[in-house]
Amino acid sequence: MDTLIAPHGGVLINRVVEGKARLDLEKASINMNTLVLNEREISDLEMIATGGFSPLAGFMCHDDYHSVMDTMTLTNGLPWTIPVTLSATEAEAAELREGTDVALNNENGELLAILHLEQIFKHDPEKEALRVYGTPDEAHPGVKNVYAMGSQLLGGKISLLERTEYDQFNEYRRDPIETRQLFKKNGWRRVVGFQTRNPIHRAHEYIQKCALETVDGLMIHPLVGETKSDDIPADVRMNCYETLMAKYYPADRVVLSVYPAAMRYAGPREAVFHALIRKNYGCTHFIVGRDHAGVGGYYGTFDAHLIFNKFEPEAIGIAPMFFDYTFHCKSCGGMASYKTCPHDSSEHITLSGTKVREMLRAGTCPPPEFSRPEVAEVLIKAMKSGA
Ligand code: ADX
Repeated sequence: MDTLIAPHGGVLINRVVEGKARLDLEKASINMNTLVLNEREISDLEMIATGGFSPLAGFMCHDDYHSVMDTMTLTNGLPWTIPVTLSATEAEAAELREGTDVALNNENGELLAILHLEQIFKHDPEKEALRVYGTPDEAHPGVKNVYAMGSQLLGGKISLLERTEYDQFNEYRRDPIETRQLFKKNGWRRVVGFQTRNPIHRAHEYIQKCALETVDGLMIHPLVGETKSDDIPADVRMNCYETLMAKYYPADRVVLSVYPAAMRYAGPREAVFHALIRKNYGCTHFIVGRDHAGVGGYYGTFDAHLIFNKFEPEAIGIAPMFFDYTFHCKSCGGMASYKTCPHDSSEHITLSGTKVREMLRAGTCPPPEFSRPEVAEVLIKAMKSGA
């Protein structure tokens, strides 16, 4: 009996083409129109091909695109909160015909995949900004990306021919099928996934360990796809995670694996998206803390919790584990949250991101109740060398 959680939609999608089929498509691609993908589109392409975005088998067509924006579900009724689309300029789209195949290349002109083009339709950036990100403000990094896309969207299934070769984090790159195998091998039936785009400070560590108390295993799943330029670079963060895990985490209960998709900063909608994707990776539980995937002041602190009320738990499948705002409390003498701590906030050790940066830049470690000294040292060193 398969003890693992079912992927979203029931089947783990595999759009990686090999053998003769691959050779045939590669040969045929010589006569196809080509489109060059950027880094974000390539990461989406690979997420689709390897099943991370199951049940998507390609870039969204018109009806799914609008259904996701309007109702947070795909046209087949499954919850889905973020459009996954491929855009082209008016001029590029004018060269293409629905019902034909298009070669998808990287910026070096290397063939990556084939798009079996079903539909060319209009991008709706204003609607996408408002519905998905909740704001028309171009200062929002997700909205900025939406406005930078081409005016036409190309929908259709994809066939991936060539995996991108990365020069970083290869030992931590595991496709959903591989994390599933790993969980099985470890005998973990209940696994909690943790999304992050930041170094792990004590608050993160606390919620991870609280969650781990109730399940079999923890997958720390940092996002290493595209982030905004002032986020801490993924290589520095990975160094922090390795350092922290080596000293403070039980090796037989915790796995570090990277999540190669791009960050959207879509707050509540991205929390649901992140959860569904971690289900595809085999997680049964997913941590959602304060202002998950938020940026600036665009979302309420717990909007990312409340959004889950709009879905039937069975339709989401993976169980969200919600955490209140956590911190070290001097009177409690340990980590706590607004939910569990009765003391005045003057007893709490909290620091803003800006303050932490200032301290690290000055070569000062934040208090150990805020960040493990070993993590702070990695960050100070990275900042000194210009990260
Ligand atoms: S995110 O964009 O990936 O959500 P971050 O890496 O800071 O940003 O957060 C990772 C996870 O930890 C998210 O679920 C977030 O809600 C949670 N989190 C971060 N800081 C705290 C905190 N102080 N209290 C509770 N949850 C937190």
